[in-house]
Amino acid sequence: MAISLLRATECLAETGEAAWLRYAPIKDPHALKQYASLPQTAVSLDHSLIASSAEKELTRGIQSMLARTLREVPKLPNENAFVLGTVTDLRSRFSELQSGQVTGDGFWLKTVHHRGHAYTVIAGADESGILYGTFALLSRVAQLQDVSNLDDRETPAEPIRWVDQWDNLNGSIERGYAGRSIFFDNGHVRADLTRVNEYARLLASVGINGCNVNNVNAAPDVLSDASLKELARIADAFRPWGVRMALSVNIASPQTVDKLDTFDPLDPRVQAWWSSKADEIYRLIPDFAGFTVKADSEGQLGPSSYGRTPADAANVLARALKAHGGVVLYRAFVYNHHLDWRDPKADRARAAYDIFHPLDGKFDDNVVLQIKHGPIDFQAREPVSPLLGGLEHTNEAMEVQITQEYTGQQRHLCFLIPMWKEVLDFDLHAKPAPTPVKDILAGKVFQRPLGGIVGVANVGLDANWLEHPLAMANLYGFGRLAWDPDLSPQTIAEEWTRLTFGNDPLVVQTITAMQLASWHIYESYTGPLGAGTMTDIIGVHYGPGIESSERNGWGQWHRADHDGIGMDRTVATGTGYIGQYHEPVAAMYESLASCPDNLLLFMHHVSYTYKLHSGKTVIQHIYDSHYEGAEAAAHLITQWKTLQGRVDDERYKDVLQRLIYQAGHAIVWRDAICEWFLKTSGIPDEKGRAGHHPNRIEAELMELDGYTPVEISPWETASGGKAVTCDRSTDCSVSFTVQRADGEYAIATQYFDQNDGTAQFHLYVNGKLVDAWVADDDLPSPKMNGHTSTRHTSPALTLKTGDTIRIDGLPSGGDKAGIDYVELETSGAN
Ligand code: GCU
Repeated sequence: MAISLLRATECLAETGEAAWLRYAPIKDPHALKQYASLPQTAVSLDHSLIASSAEKELTRGIQSMLARTLREVPKLPNENAFVLGTVTDLRSRFSELQSGQVTGDGFWLKTVHHRGHAYTVIAGADESGILYGTFALLSRVAQLQDVSNLDDRETPAEPIRWVDQWDNLNGSIERGYAGRSIFFDNGHVRADLTRVNEYARLLASVGINGCNVNNVNAAPDVLSDASLKELARIADAFRPWGVRMALSVNIASPQTVDKLDTFDPLDPRVQAWWSSKADEIYRLIPDFAGFTVKADSEGQLGPSSYGRTPADAANVLARALKAHGGVVLYRAFVYNHHLDWRDPKADRARAAYDIFHPLDGKFDDNVVLQIKHGPIDFQAREPVSPLLGGLEHTNEAMEVQITQEYTGQQRHLCFLIPMWKEVLDFDLHAKPAPTPVKDILAGKVFQRPLGGIVGVANVGLDANWLEHPLAMANLYGFGRLAWDPDLSPQTIAEEWTRLTFGNDPLVVQTITAMQLASWHIYESYTGPLGAGTMTDIIGVHYGPGIESSERNGWGQWHRADHDGIGMDRTVATGTGYIGQYHEPVAAMYESLASCPDNLLLFMHHVSYTYKLHSGKTVIQHIYDSHYEGAEAAAHLITQWKTLQGRVDDERYKDVLQRLIYQAGHAIVWRDAICEWFLKTSGIPDEKGRAGHHPNRIEAELMELDGYTPVEISPWETASGGKAVTCDRSTDCSVSFTVQRADGEYAIATQYFDQNDGTAQFHLYVNGKLVDAWVADDDLPSPKMNGHTSTRHTSPALTLKTGDTIRIDGLPSGGDKAGIDYVELETSGAN
């Protein structure tokens, strides 16, 4: 009985919009009994805007989960009640709260027995703490935890817990994969900011207290008088949730916005400009959080135009904000993207440390250096940035990327919490005692007034916020880790699953396992051994593009050639990057004997036959990991299928089709990498897989009617480097005769789904239509390549030797109904 009730509740229609704040009605009889004794009344003794949001949220959550309407009363009632307030206020009423510290934005959840009544007290160190405590209490109820005898105190690890949005005023989002901006459209702030308010509520529910709303590649217009008036409306929508708005600013603004003849930070007119701009901002937005600055980076102007340092620029902005309580997050993502690739000493990874380490101590105390977690750029595997351990007198915030720019763009499942957690726990040995990154950020290693973590989120108007329903675990987990970096990825994944999909043990166990495995899976079928993600570096950063990173100035080189692969970053013979780490970290990376396999190619150049600690050669590892990764991606489908009927149909189907797509694209990745390294190294796969596809029939070798063979670029993104394309406006077809033994086969068609048309495909066996599909996905390219190569697997059917298989492709717009190959699968896993 209990089970059927549980199922019924957890099969509600879902759009994903509620994310982890679903407050699904609780039907589990045991839990209901447990919660029957919860108070029916609530009082807030704090009358701030944020505390009022907290009280409303409490009422909303209890109503939704327990079908009970809380009575909100103005003063402490003579009955059991939820009591909200600041610790300071509540101390005078409840002696139980006398001792015990709660600081920052922290909270204290405590069951207090007073004059014969039980009060469930939600006490905040400040008003935000009241809100965070309320969300924490509701989360415990949603997870069916016992809340009858509470005594939990929590304080966030760091004061800066921000998300950045890279939204442009025209409504597009740089590296956004979930639709258009929730903030902007057509050069203006949107008229309807309902989604912005909902976003702030989601952020607050996991303790995030700041949001930078515009692209780090900041449009100068952002600071115009007209623009600021509009932006103030966003801050208004954030305010009830304690989320403070920040803005990315262009360092050349004095010149571009107000026609000064300079933006030299040391020019008094420029300083006066920033001051008066800050005053203007605070008149409109009294709780404005501050500025984020990307300067002298990837084409953005910066202080170097006048021979000034980043400290000169940051301090001018910081002084303008100081009196108002604002901060400057100055990004350490500064590097020369016109490096000479022929120079073996040139190394982009060195840049942040080389530029900012000498400036340690030169920044004002309301400047925070925002440092990407790795030295390159959010790759699937990077070492921890040495700069995080290289500053003793400068505030630091670590930047991570929630939007999956280099990790599958929310089309592939990639739960990033284990990656961030590895970074947070990594001991940089900045002092003799352990100095994990999380302690450095929290100011526990070097005394610093500020510190934190910033996640580039890039949610969009898509109902699911991040498009892939399972990707929302990254936003949730980011907030949870920023609050408490000691939480384990397992705990975070479980919490998120319970809140998002319900408490059915099989659902929790399965989704948690899928999430925890997913980063490793993604890494396995993309970039090997720390060599970089091997994606199309100078394009959309999605499908494979192995040579795109070489022979250009961007510096994401892996230096793979006929003999070997990897960047020599040693002090002894390489770029010297490793010398930026403290000992013993430097020694660990410098020596081949102790360098971990998963970063080997980041640190060293080795031959393909070099033996890893695992005992495999580099080349065999490349083959094996890519085959294993693609297989593991297919296994995610099998795991997900066990949840049919246990999660709502909408999200079940949505996730299923995404996982099927991912498994197909993992094969594209696997083949591109394996074929490229097979050709480049000339060393065969000892298991005979790379370069051998006995079940595959190349389209260009089939009988063609209307289709013409074409070369694909880069060659490794199509099987055999070629495909066929239909250059007329009517159907073209490919056909072949089955030459396999009679049996059951699933027919997998590898085709190209370009974003400039919606081609149609029809599959016939012996002239009989057996399947049809439409190439209507929105993949990031109008070309036939590794971004658009897609697999469609038709249901298994019985085939006989000599049967004829024909595929008709009908082009549409620029989409020429391209086909790469057909594979006859005996397993039919998809
Ligand atoms: C990456 C990303 C850019 C972004 C940059 C940054 O390089 O591709 O779109 O502007 O990071 O963090 O500034």
